[in-house]
Amino acid sequence: MQDYHEFLSEVLIDEDTLQKRISELAAEINRDYAGQDLILLCILRGGMVFLVDLMRQLDVPHEVDIMAISSYGRNVRESHGNVRLTLDLQLDIRDRNVLLVEDIIDSGNTIAYVLEFLSTRMPRSLRVCSLLDKEERREVVVPIHYRGFTIPDKFVFGYGLDIDEYFRNLPFIGVVDLDKYKQPGSNG
Ligand code: IMP
Ligand code: MG
Repeated sequence: MQDYHEFLSEVLIDEDTLQKRISELAAEINRDYAGQDLILLCILRGGMVFLVDLMRQLDVPHEVDIMAISSYGRNVRESHGNVRLTLDLQLDIRDRNVLLVEDIIDSGNTIAYVLEFLSTRMPRSLRVCSLLDKEERREVVVPIHYRGFTIPDKFVFGYGLDIDEYFRNLPFIGVVDLDKYKQPGSNG
């Protein structure tokens, strides 16, 4: 695997800016759900870093669960519709307040599928909290109740988001220079 400095074209959102915004989102969630009880539902794997930082700033009592989705599209960086559940959640969400925690909403296909699927289980409420929103690429209309940042149509990595499954650990959101990035296992 390459050193990310070779293909990082810019740091789009630095660590301080991320953490400050996450505190603001947590404050909103604390206010909106005051006196209630919550299930935070993380969509693996991109949402996990965000989930962990967000939940540590919540004082609303909450349970945490995870689910996983896979999507097949025109290429590895696009989901385009064919979304499938690969890991179901464990908790019974009937009559519960559910807050989905996502890293990024791009076409919207993933979250649209998840919302439809979860709503058949009759939660009391179902909301979406997404750290990033690539608004220009939206193909289906989806509600985002808590939005961290609206970002331009660029491929980003770090803070939970991967490029070919690597670099989720970085504390900032960076933009990939796709001309300089070499896919693992390729010669060019
Ligand atoms: P959607 O179904 O098109 O909204 O895609 C959402 C999923 O695609 C996210 O949960 C990410 O896993 C992935 N994704 C979309 N854009 C990016 C990006 O810029 N970097 C890394 N992953 C991304
Ligand atoms: Mg994801």
